[in-house]
Amino acid sequence: MMSVLDDLERIRSVDRQGMVDIMRRLPESCGDAIERAEHLNIPDTLSVSKDKTIRYRRPEKVVVVGMGGSAVGGDLLKGWLWDTVSVPIEVCRDYHLPAYADGKTLVFAVSYSGNTEETLSGFVEALERGCMVVSVSSDGVLEEFSERLGIPLVSLPKRFPPRCALPHLFFPLVVALERIGVLRDIKREVEEAIAILKQIRDEIVPETPTLKNPAKTLALGVKDTIPVAYGFRQYSGVALRIKTQLNENSKVPGKWECFPELNHNEAVGWMGPDALTRGLSVILIRDPDEPPEIRARIELTKELVLERRARRVLEIHARGETRLARMLSTIYIGDFMSVYLAILYGVDPTPVDIITRMKKGLKDRVDRVGELRERLIEVAGHG
Ligand code: F6R
Repeated sequence: MMSVLDDLERIRSVDRQGMVDIMRRLPESCGDAIERAEHLNIPDTLSVSKDKTIRYRRPEKVVVVGMGGSAVGGDLLKGWLWDTVSVPIEVCRDYHLPAYADGKTLVFAVSYSGNTEETLSGFVEALERGCMVVSVSSDGVLEEFSERLGIPLVSLPKRFPPRCALPHLFFPLVVALERIGVLRDIKREVEEAIAILKQIRDEIVPETPTLKNPAKTLALGVKDTIPVAYGFRQYSGVALRIKTQLNENSKVPGKWECFPELNHNEAVGWMGPDALTRGLSVILIRDPDEPPEIRARIELTKELVLERRARRVLEIHARGETRLARMLSTIYIGDFMSVYLAILYGVDPTPVDIITRMKKGLKDRVDRVGELRERLIEVAGHG
C-alpha cells in the first residue's frame, strides 16, 4: 500500500497554508536573507538621546535577544562559532539582559513580529545601557522604534511563520558580525551550505518516495511516540530546533538533550518503567567527523541504553564539508520530518493557535508591550 506521505494530494490537503512550499525554497531564502542583510548600515556612533550615544565598534560580548523561532538563529550562531571566535555569544530568552551587557556588548534584538514582549524588554534595556543594538524584524514595535531611533535594522519580508523565516533570522547576524569585525572569510562556507541544502532538497521533498526519503522515514519512525532529539556541541541548537519544530509543526510534545551531559543524568532516566520509556523514540544527530570521545559516548549510549529502552532509535546524518553546511543540513531534514509527521497525524503544520491565545491572554492581564512602548516613546522623545 502506498504511504500517505507519497500521496501528494493528501499532503497538499493537510498542509493547507503551504508550509512545504516555504520549506522547499529554503536554499533560495538563504540567498535572499544575505542580500537583504547586506543593506545593513552600522554607523560609528549613534545619538539615541541627549545623554546617550552608542559607539559601534568590535564588541567584547554578543547577546542575541529573542524568543521561540526568532531565537534559533542565535543558537545556530553560538554553535557554529563557539570554538573559533573568541567573543562570547549568548542567547537571552527572557525579559532582562545579563548584568554584563554594557556599551561593549553587541545586542541583537530579534523578533519576527516585532511585538514579542520579552524581546522588546531586552531591546529597551539594551538602549538604556548604551549597548550596540542591531534589530532584526519584519514589523511591530521593534521595527517602528528601530526606525525612529536610527538603530541599524534588517527589515524582513512579511507573512512567514517566524520559524519558517530561519535564514532571515540567522544570516543578518552573520552579516552584522562580519561588518563589525568579529567574523572574516565566511563566503565559501556560506556558499557550500547553500549548495548542500539544494542537494538535500531533492531527497526530502514530497515528490521523493518514502523509501529514498530520509525525512519521511524519520517521521514514520517517530510516529506515535514522544520524540527526543540528542545532539552535541554545535548541534545543541539543532537538537532544540528539531524539538521545537516537532512541537509547533507536528503538534507533539518533545525533548532534547546533549552529549556528554546526558550521560551524567538523562541516561539513568531511561532505566525507568517500560511503560514510560517505550513511549519515547530518539533521534541522534550524527556527524561524519564526530570527535572520538563523542562517537564513543553515542555508540555506548545506543548499546547500553537506547536500543534496550526506547521504542525506536533513529539518526539524522549531517552532510557537507564545513560546519555550517552540516548544521543546516540536519536542520533541513528535521524541518521536513516535522511537517511529514504533521501530515501523518492529519494536522495543518502552520497554525500555532495556543501561542497566539497565550500572547493575547497575557496582554489582557499585563500589558507589558504597552508599557514598553511608553518607555520607548520616552527614549525617542529625548532624542
Ligand atoms: C514560530 C513561532 C514562535 C515565535 C515566538 C516569538 O513560528 O510562532 O516560536 O517565534 O512566539 O515571536 P516572534 O518570533 O514574532 O518574536
